[in-house]
Amino acid sequence: MSASTSAADGAAGACCGGLSRRAVLAGGGAGAAALVLAACSPGGTGDVQITPPATAATVAQLAEVPVGGAVSATLPGGAQILVTQPTAGDVHVLSAICTHMGCGVVPGQGDLECPCHGSTFDLAGKVTHGPAKKPLQTLTATVKDGQVVVGG
Ligand code: FES
Repeated sequence: MSASTSAADGAAGACCGGLSRRAVLAGGGAGAAALVLAACSPGGTGDVQITPPATAATVAQLAEVPVGGAVSATLPGGAQILVTQPTAGDVHVLSAICTHMGCGVVPGQGDLECPCHGSTFDLAGKVTHGPAKKPLQTLTATVKDGQVVVGG
């Protein structure tokens, strides 16, 4: 697992949370298979739901997640996620798939930003600026021994 604070990480090939259609097809993992390919196409709806891993997976170290900010991370299987910490100890794990048309959302300055059409989300995934209308998907997460864990 890796996490990054770079906004550029999620921007390149950003459709479907940074996964190319080939990567999704070749991945074959449960996470990759859970992605709906229709959202990768221009005109996609962004109604892509990612499935948490069947076994618990560490997605970030809590110490890497800035208070009042976010980091990009990857689930086993390749789905792109965001780990946020609006206030100390309040951790959210969100799908990085924009609910507008499926581009990859990246950490901004105290918020989350979609590079495609300018939607922004707060650190809990709520839309703060359209065109997206729906919040980012939230994944259930726990913090254990300083690690942010999803699934299981
Ligand atoms: S795909 Fe994110 S704003 Fe359009």
